[in-house]
Amino acid sequence: MKLFGSMEIRENQLYIGGVPTSELVKEFATPLYVIDEALVRDNCRRYVKAFKVNENKNKVAYAGKAFLPFAMCQLINEEGLCLDVVSGGELYTAHKSGFPLEKVLFHGNNKTFEEINMGISLGVGRFVVDNFYEIEKISEIAGKYNTTQKVYLRITPGIEAHTHDYIKTGQIDSKFGFTIVNGDAINAVKKVLEMPNIELAGLHAHIGSQIFDVKPYEDEVEVMMSLIKEIKDETGHIITELDLGGGFGIYYTEADNPRETEEFCELILNKADEVAAKLNIELPTLVIEPGRSIIGNCGTTLYTVGSIKDIPNVRKYAAVDGGMTDNIRPSLYNAEYECVIANRAGDKADEKVTIAGKCCESGDILLTDVKVSGINSGDILAVSTTGAYGYSMSNNYNKISKPAVAFVKDGNAKLVCRRESYEDMIKNELGLY
Ligand code: LLP
Repeated sequence: MKLFGSMEIRENQLYIGGVPTSELVKEFATPLYVIDEALVRDNCRRYVKAFKVNENKNKVAYAGKAFLPFAMCQLINEEGLCLDVVSGGELYTAHKSGFPLEKVLFHGNNKTFEEINMGISLGVGRFVVDNFYEIEKISEIAGKYNTTQKVYLRITPGIEAHTHDYIKTGQIDSKFGFTIVNGDAINAVKKVLEMPNIELAGLHAHIGSQIFDVKPYEDEVEVMMSLIKEIKDETGHIITELDLGGGFGIYYTEADNPRETEEFCELILNKADEVAAKLNIELPTLVIEPGRSIIGNCGTTLYTVGSIKDIPNVRKYAAVDGGMTDNIRPSLYNAEYECVIANRAGDKADEKVTIAGKCCESGDILLTDVKVSGINSGDILAVSTTGAYGYSMSNNYNKISKPAVAFVKDGNAKLVCRRESYEDMIKNELGLY
């Protein structure tokens, strides 16, 4: 397993943030999400610097859908990032954590009346408007509050990013945003310009997730800045902010070869400079929305190995005390991960095993045919790179409770999300009688 950030092996044991994994298990039990706080902060700082947040007033908006407990809202605020939320629940979390809501972008292809109302009344900085219906609703609700809501329009730029099919969102056949080629985009601009209580601040696009190639982003810059020019020529309106979305790929296994943040950002910023000069338009404030590339590599899930089933000449299964309830990505996307036996982390990994979850579902397999240093019941299995879309997509299938989350740093561990109890799980059940 590749070691990230503060991970190290001391006396044959995996340490994260200077804390032995055996201590974490003793204190918080398993399954447990462990977050390397220093690495999260370092990732944030690298983005802030590379994307010229202070120098050029560009913005990095962390995509909260990747992982958004209170602790994360507080951390990204301290690190000077903005926040992208996609639901009333994420907005509520940000609000309750004390995150400044003028730094929030509110996404979503079907925001409800209640969500729009909540966003406007709480003073969300920008709505990312997805459809004509939403333009009218925002104008109406902002009017009720006697305010003017700043918005971006979400544009479908028609760019195919090479990634998993389920998570492509930039192509023309998409539920998201206003399509350029059929005229919806320019019509939406005109509509916002003529409606009261709504102000067009910028454009937004998101071309997919887990993308390694910079070319789709460069194409996106071309397409979006050409649209900015078209808007200026046709309506006289100057778009001052351009949000290019997120989706920057990270390392899960040896098959992944991501670029460094610095290089990615530099290529995008250079392209924007070049296109602005070519089109003779003013360079807008640029925004990006990384989620996975900020938190993904910072998370490790610790499990306890339970039952082991060896089928000679077929496969050896080892089951852990979690599974598709805490990490649905392998079942949903065939996502691959690396792992290590945390209590024998330095030993040679020469035994092939398949790691199964505990759900009543044959597809609940976390890692298929991975090499470990032998595996015994009672071992602690560490699966790396589970920081993004692990906890945030966790669920209660089979009434399995959601694990706890601990941040680790400088030899200390801090519980930031309690493990769900059975009582928590049934708290909304009223019964027939
Ligand atoms: N901005 C927008 C508008 C998005 O839709 C997304 C992700 C992001 C930013 C952040 O993308 P990131 O940098 O994290 O790749 N559940 C899937 C990923 C779905 C992502 C959806 N949108 C997964 O587990 O891989």
